[in-house]
Amino acid sequence: MSEAFEIRLFHPDDIKQVVLINQQSLPENYPEQFFLGLHYHAPQAFFVASVDDRVVGYIMCRIERGISGFGRLPTKKGHIVSVAVLNDRRNHGIGTALIAAAMEGMIDYGASEFFLEVRKTNEAAIAIYEKLGFRVKRVLRGYYRDGEDAYLMAKKLYESQEDDEPDA
Ligand SMILES: CC(C)(COP(=O)(O)OP(=O)(O)OC[C@H]1O[C@@H](n2cnc3c(N)ncnc32)[C@H](O)[C@@H]1OP(=O)(O)O)[C@@H](O)C(=O)NCCC(=O)NCCS
Repeated sequence: MSEAFEIRLFHPDDIKQVVLINQQSLPENYPEQFFLGLHYHAPQAFFVASVDDRVVGYIMCRIERGISGFGRLPTKKGHIVSVAVLNDRRNHGIGTALIAAAMEGMIDYGASEFFLEVRKTNEAAIAIYEKLGFRVKRVLRGYYRDGEDAYLMAKKLYESQEDDEPDA
């Protein structure tokens, strides 16, 4: 089943609804300034989904510099910091569309690989990331405040890129 939704860039006017969705969807919550700071640094990689002009989901990312491959060359890595969709709007393709849009935005900033942390028990999110080509690179023991482990998942833009771990 699908419903009409729009993916568009975040605007600071959306902040209250984005913070609310974050609080309702995830144990990892942040003050408004954290969201606005990420938006300031990478506005083209912060998207919201709306249904009938109401924001129902968001994704925000950070562009991080690192080194990659055996040549240890400088590279830009796109970090998906947080993504969530309102509970009653899930399973309509909104999360997948948000992640795809954010990856395009991060590519425009020069990112050639992407990574994220996800709870080991978060089957829905892991399934989406795998569908989009992300793979589990390692386990981050006790990553979350409540002690749960995270998977570090990553994806290269080009299959031919040398495989190594992102410098998170
Ligand atoms: C992760 C999240 C953003 C996905 O949003 P969404 O709009 O439901 O995503 P989509 O509709 O695009 O895709 C849902 C997919 O998950 C799958 N799925 C749902 N529940 C699942 C489960 N328990 N196990 C495995 N797959 C599951 C669906 O089958 C669907 O896959 P498909 O596209 O192949 O059919 C949403 O579940 C959410 O906000 N979760 C809470 C916040 C969160 O966990 N964020 C990620 C932190 S890393």
